[in-house]
Amino acid sequence: MPDLNQVKEAARRCLQADPGSHGWDHAERVRRLCQHIGEAEGADLQVLELAACLHDICRAEEKASGGVLCHARLGAERACRLLHEFGYDPETVQRVSECIASHRFRGSGVGPATLEARVLFDADKLDAIGAVGIGRAFVFAAEVGARLHNPEIDVLKTSAYSREDTAYREFSVKLRKVKDQMLTATGRKLAERRHDFMLAFFERLTREVLGKE
Ligand SMILES: [Fe+2]
Ligand SMILES: [Fe+2]
Repeated sequence: MPDLNQVKEAARRCLQADPGSHGWDHAERVRRLCQHIGEAEGADLQVLELAACLHDICRAEEKASGGVLCHARLGAERACRLLHEFGYDPETVQRVSECIASHRFRGSGVGPATLEARVLFDADKLDAIGAVGIGRAFVFAAEVGARLHNPEIDVLKTSAYSREDTAYREFSVKLRKVKDQMLTATGRKLAERRHDFMLAFFERLTREVLGKE
């Protein structure tokens, strides 16, 4: 009988090298979201649990290659080997691997083809928005030495990794588009709530920074 704890341990070891936004905490949040969305959508929760734990296990390799290698493709291959080793049946291994391979879909090529793959995709994207997304954006801004906020300039004309690469820039350039990328009805509903929260947060942040609140 395969043991989920073995899988979690293996994933945790792979993710140790990435303590930031894609470490084990991220995998855990994605796992919980997968349970929530998967249950509502009637997906296979075992496949989702395994896929969520393992989906980013090759990020370190992608980083080390300067983005040449794709962590989704590599991760799918490594997950196959691991799950096979841990005694999972070939069908489960295949289904988990499919989820991981397509979780990074960017709008071209073959997208997530199964229900479980669509749930993992949504869960992974959802973790970039809402209160968690705001938190992650500020952590990233601090890492690149960006300002707290910059409501007086057009952030769309500023560059990444600069002093102006604030959480608000991340929201304007990327995070505000995430709700339109959801692939399941439940994911869409959650994304809308998270989106509204981000809008309200940045509106208030601007008002406070301008001394109006
Ligand atoms: Fe990923
Ligand atoms: Fe991820």
